[in-house]
Amino acid sequence: MIRIPIDLGAAAYEVLIGAGLLTSIGQEAGRLFPERKACAVVSDSTVAPLHADKVMESLKTQGFQPILIVVPAGEPSKCFGQLEQIVREMIRAGLDRKAFLVALGGGVIGDLAGFAAAIHYRGIPYLQVPTTVLAQVDSSVGGKTGINTAEGKNLIGAFHQPKLVLADVETLGTLPRRAWNEGFAEIIKHAAIQDATLLPLIREVAVGEGNMSELIARNVAIKGRIVAADEFETKGLRALLNFGHTIGHAIESCAGYGELLHGEAIALGMKAALHLSCKHTGLTSAAAGEINDLIAMFHLPTHLPATMTDAAILEKLSRDKKFDQGQIRFVLLDSIGSAHLSDVVTRRDLQEAIDHLR
Ligand SMILES: NC(=O)c1ccc[n+]([C@@H]2O[C@H](COP(=O)([O-])OP(=O)(O)OC[C@H]3O[C@@H](n4cnc5c(N)ncnc54)[C@H](O)[C@@H]3O)[C@@H](O)[C@H]2O)c1
Ligand SMILES: [Zn+2]
Repeated sequence: MIRIPIDLGAAAYEVLIGAGLLTSIGQEAGRLFPERKACAVVSDSTVAPLHADKVMESLKTQGFQPILIVVPAGEPSKCFGQLEQIVREMIRAGLDRKAFLVALGGGVIGDLAGFAAAIHYRGIPYLQVPTTVLAQVDSSVGGKTGINTAEGKNLIGAFHQPKLVLADVETLGTLPRRAWNEGFAEIIKHAAIQDATLLPLIREVAVGEGNMSELIARNVAIKGRIVAADEFETKGLRALLNFGHTIGHAIESCAGYGELLHGEAIALGMKAALHLSCKHTGLTSAAAGEINDLIAMFHLPTHLPATMTDAAILEKLSRDKKFDQGQIRFVLLDSIGSAHLSDVVTRRDLQEAIDHLR
């Protein structure tokens, strides 16, 4: 098992990474919460039948009294309705401020259940047990929780750091191939902005070799370092994690439901951002090629869906909150592992970057 500390002062916690960790959650909770007994395990309708038994058993063995709350799998569950269901079910089951919560699932469950923990009796502690690649390397670390509304994604939420993240790489074994591949977009992003030495390990994992626990751990360390330096996203550092996400988000929101997964849209956004980095900050085409090759190794898309128009993407981009008085704050690479925020990218550049994805 690998332990990565997330250095957040009073809110510091550890991320544990390894194979078969689900069965040790009771022990870990016992260590963290010697005074607490009641808890809720929140999961979704796909993950619960696959993995909840182990978690429930492990908690019961250590003398906890867990209830299991299951929401429908998928992004639509990140909503006020499901949030209300969760906290009301906890209240009805007698879980008060002395209870704790376990979020077992992908980023949807982490965000939704984490937010429920943030507001239940004005805040109870919680553990993140991420079960997707994306959740293990990205969403479970950093304490951002929240839900979506019709007005936009993640506009309602709270910073609420977990007391522990337990990433069991064995749970990733039940992921469909497309969901597995999707998560590597964020891994490639981490390497691109912070750590060129990660590339060989990513290549090894792509061909079925390489140590997945080590790869997850190194990514958690990268995300953790950035979060620790900029916990509330006020210093611009956390914004580097938006590499590939400006154009990527616009593409994602233009796509029809289920047409492009988040990581697939981000892969396209990274290809566009690499192109603009070559143009503006002297990233070599060889370096851009290395990242693009990795994207292709995980069968992530390299071209826009033919039906998606330039006008639609540009319209979404103009609504991006990173647009400020006609200028867009854009993450560019100088070299692999070195990123910075820039305002040199123009609307014409954005058009050129979209052309590059045709
Ligand atoms: N809080 C943050 O900092 C942060 C960062 C990035 C993304 N996010 C959020 O994360 C969400 C996306 O996360 P996600 O991609 O994990 O989505 P997800 O939670 O919807 O999981 C994807 C799908 O995989 C299924 N699944 C999960 N684990 C599985 C397993 N082990 N085996 C089989 N199936 C499994 C789920 O049921 C779901 O259908 C978005 O809502 C996004 O906004 C949050
Ligand atoms: Zn992302």
